[in-house]
Amino acid sequence: MTDQTPKRLFIKTYGCQMNVYDSQRMAEAMGAEGYVETDRPEDADMVLLNTCHIREKAAEKLYSDLGRLKPLKAERPDLRIGVAGCVAQAEGEEIIRRMPLVDLVVGPQAYHRLPAMARGQGPAVDTDFPAEDKFDHLPQRRATRRAPAAFLTVQEGCDKFCAFCVVPYTRGAEVSRPAARILAEARDLVARGVREITLLGQNVNGWHGDGLSGFGGLIRALAAIEGLDRIRYTTSHPNDMADDLIEAHRDIAQLMPYLHLPVQSGSDRILKAMNRRHTAEQYLRLIDRIRAARPDIMLTSDFIVGFPGEIDEDHAATLRLVEQVGFGSAFSFKYSPRPGTPAHGRPLVDDSIADARLQELQALLTRQQRAAQEGMIGRRLGVLFEKPGRLPGQMVGKSDYLHSVFVHAPQARPGDLVQVRIRASAPNSLEGELA
Ligand code: SAH
Ligand code: SF4
Ligand code: F3S
Repeated sequence: MTDQTPKRLFIKTYGCQMNVYDSQRMAEAMGAEGYVETDRPEDADMVLLNTCHIREKAAEKLYSDLGRLKPLKAERPDLRIGVAGCVAQAEGEEIIRRMPLVDLVVGPQAYHRLPAMARGQGPAVDTDFPAEDKFDHLPQRRATRRAPAAFLTVQEGCDKFCAFCVVPYTRGAEVSRPAARILAEARDLVARGVREITLLGQNVNGWHGDGLSGFGGLIRALAAIEGLDRIRYTTSHPNDMADDLIEAHRDIAQLMPYLHLPVQSGSDRILKAMNRRHTAEQYLRLIDRIRAARPDIMLTSDFIVGFPGEIDEDHAATLRLVEQVGFGSAFSFKYSPRPGTPAHGRPLVDDSIADARLQELQALLTRQQRAAQEGMIGRRLGVLFEKPGRLPGQMVGKSDYLHSVFVHAPQARPGDLVQVRIRASAPNSLEGELA
């Protein structure tokens, strides 16, 4: 290989959308070092695994993937292998001890130092929470045309300390990016063809950057950007749903009628043990206020079953809350004890009981999802086309309510925002025709 040949970077992303965003920013930073992305690890000069620590299974995936890289590294010892993300933060040097083929470990707040680490300058392990803001030290977003929908991280970390959750430890304290930086990045994305931006944060509605009055104010400022047609945000905490944000759902046409608002449990006893700091009743009243502001809003949530101490009555309360709200869809997980979190070490619910509860909850949520999707049949929805579908002449995009929608539209292109009449519902998508 000559010096002219670009070096190749393979990135695998696990976990949440913030990791997806971070992977893009790391790819851009490495792009400035002459790396281009490849989707085959076999072709790569550097493999970067951007990891998730939220549940045990997520973290274990890293080690099985590293195991699979062993023959590749044996064949080509100059292959650089890096581990980024939340496992990197949580386990640090331990990763290299357990898997010596790993060359570098970089935590989520130190990505701006990745290029130097890749050059072999600086330490092999960097899990600092530096005083400087990584975003100020990462290169400008790359000057190419972009897909019509993009992520933009506005807030990182979390101060809520839910008893089950690693995020406050892996991502650190809650930090909001300044409004001016966010608005500049959004304008830049729009100039490159982006029409929809999803604002990201572990606790995004707790954003409290300078210059604007809270997260509702940030959304209003973004809505003033010409060409930004759709705004979404995720993930929110119920206790940070301020009045001005609820009002934004009423007033701002660009703010899509969709809200992911994790509740985790419908039992007050369990909510307390989880340190969620609200009751089921408070959540239901909040939903009432949000629906009063935006009656058609699609609500989604996260649930944990089998949290330590959960008994049948608690589970029944969760099912009741789900019945009362009516979710468009939701994620549900079996509790996974995480080292270093307050709930770690508490006596576990019997595994077969937790499995049965998870199945029961998921069956109910699936029924609600199906009903919500079938309720869309016959309606006209806005759809932003993102890419061609599987069939010839087909496009796929997202509805206002974030459903994937397949449409026969041979003349259309990614980035077209069209009206679609919904004709049918499949398990995880809708089908429609141009209206
Ligand atoms: N910041 C977001 C989401 C954090 S992680 C929030 O506050 O809601 C995404 C989801 O993973 C959580 O909502 C929770 O349902 C689930 N989760 C987090 N820790 C978990 C654990 N230890 N076991 C099982 N599920 C967990
Ligand atoms: Fe984790 Fe709770 Fe913070 Fe969400 S609010 S990131 S669940 S600690
Ligand atoms: Fe996972 Fe870290 Fe996101 S633990 S869910 S990648 S913040």
